Amino acid sequence: MAKPFFLSTPIYYVNDAPHIGHAYTTTAGDVLTRWHRQRGEEVWFLTGTDEHGTKVQRAAQEHGVSPKKWVDDLVANAWLPVLETLDAANDDFIRTTEERHVHGVQVFWQRLKDSGAVYQDTYVGPYCVGCEEFKLPGDLIEGSGEFEGQMVCAIHGKPCEMLEESNWFFRLSAYSDALLKHYRDNPNAVRPTSAYNEVVSFIEQGLTDISMSRSAVDWGIPLPWQSEQVVYVWFDALLNYVTAAGFGAEPGSPEAERFNRIWPASVHLVGKDILRFHAVYWPAMLLAAGLKLPDLVFAHGWLLVGGEKMSKSKLTGIAPSAIIDYCGSDAFRYYFMSAIRFGSDGSFSWEDLTARYTAELANGLGNLASRLTAMVERYFDGKLPQAGELTVPDLAIRDALVQLPKTVDEKMCELDFAGAIAQVRSLIELTNGYVTEQEPWVLAKDPNKSERLATVLYVVAEVLRVVAVLYHPVMPKSTRKLWESIGAEGVFGPLADQRVDASASWGLLPAGTSVVKTEALFPRLAEEE
Ligand code: ME8
Ligand code: MG
Repeated sequence: MAKPFFLSTPIYYVNDAPHIGHAYTTTAGDVLTRWHRQRGEEVWFLTGTDEHGTKVQRAAQEHGVSPKKWVDDLVANAWLPVLETLDAANDDFIRTTEERHVHGVQVFWQRLKDSGAVYQDTYVGPYCVGCEEFKLPGDLIEGSGEFEGQMVCAIHGKPCEMLEESNWFFRLSAYSDALLKHYRDNPNAVRPTSAYNEVVSFIEQGLTDISMSRSAVDWGIPLPWQSEQVVYVWFDALLNYVTAAGFGAEPGSPEAERFNRIWPASVHLVGKDILRFHAVYWPAMLLAAGLKLPDLVFAHGWLLVGGEKMSKSKLTGIAPSAIIDYCGSDAFRYYFMSAIRFGSDGSFSWEDLTARYTAELANGLGNLASRLTAMVERYFDGKLPQAGELTVPDLAIRDALVQLPKTVDEKMCELDFAGAIAQVRSLIELTNGYVTEQEPWVLAKDPNKSERLATVLYVVAEVLRVVAVLYHPVMPKSTRKLWESIGAEGVFGPLADQRVDASASWGLLPAGTSVVKTEALFPRLAEEE
């Protein structure tokens, strides 16, 4: 049996509410997993929250509540609701304060302790609470503004705290050679290429052992062998990918069976800020535990504000609902997946969003759908007519249509969301041009041209059928409306069950299918105040 497609997002820190940067990763994960479901694969889409550590503990303190109350409230009131807002169909949501996770983390580290992969020592050095990271000398940059003359974190722009504490170290250095070999043998295990190169050159410089526990922090998971210390938050958080899957569960239990079936992950989606954790520390931990390494770590770029990474710590975040209230979740998903090349940085702008919405969704797909449904209603009583013989312009559309699912599939499987969407969009543009040239409203005036009129409308209906299938992972709601309005629901069943490859045949919509004009798929946007 084929291995399930197991995709994870990072588990996000619950130091504040989500912004569109977090929504971006979750959306990409949702689009890709919906795509793989429509490839007929078994899918497991995991997301969740990272709830331990200094950053979360301090956020709670600043608000005068216990860390547990802080995370419970924020998860319930902000992090879970944003999944609804985004229309994300995740299969699981893990919180690191859950017992299944705490238990799995303790089983994991006890195993590494027993095998000699950890030892006690003293850590002295800088720590960035924003990153929750022990910084290496090469990680810091010259500060500016109020921090002129000091060394600061390259991501948060602030000086680090100096730590000196006795804790436990993970023998990361022991895995340099094995990791290098793994990446040389699997040059596609980290993408894009820039991320791969960064990871390999970091490992080539030689890895040093790293603290896996904290003695000065108490909001965390106690070390099983020394309960006064907690597991370092990253070495607790990374384990969510296995604990959620069932690692550490009772052997023979359904959870343990699931772990054996679905591990290793197919894709860990992350932002490039946390590449090193996922492509160096995490695989080293897995090697130490004798577990398989994930197929792919994909590090996407940052959403920027004023040239800098949008951030909770810097309070530069835009809430996803601010955009979704304006244009809806489908347009939000479409915009972020199509306007920024996945793997590159990008900036959000209201002007760009509005322009693309209007040109590509309202005047593009929306217009094509409303033209077709209105004309089938008006000229054929709402019954899809039988096509006559196809002529050259019809054949051009048909040929483009039958090729499209395969091309889009290749791009989606490469996580080239913008490329995949551009392919579908070009068929829509081609077809809108075709309608303008064929002038079905003129054909309708001549009773001798009724077969030609039928053919033109049939061609457009077929395009909409395929577009609905291929765009469904990107825009689940509006494609469902489209699917119903061209009568496909009654013929083929739910849109989410439609296979990508099966959509490629020509002529699947039977003549006589009921077509109904519905409200606009992409209504005009309200004027901005
Ligand atoms: O790092 N642009 O959590 P976090 C694009 N808890 N993506 C962004 C972004 C931006 N401006 N800002 C955030 C953590 N993200 C850890 C992860 S995983 C075992 C533990 C997204 O709340 C992106 O995916 O800081 C980034 O990697 C992640 O949120 C960081 O979220
Ligand atoms: Mg962060």
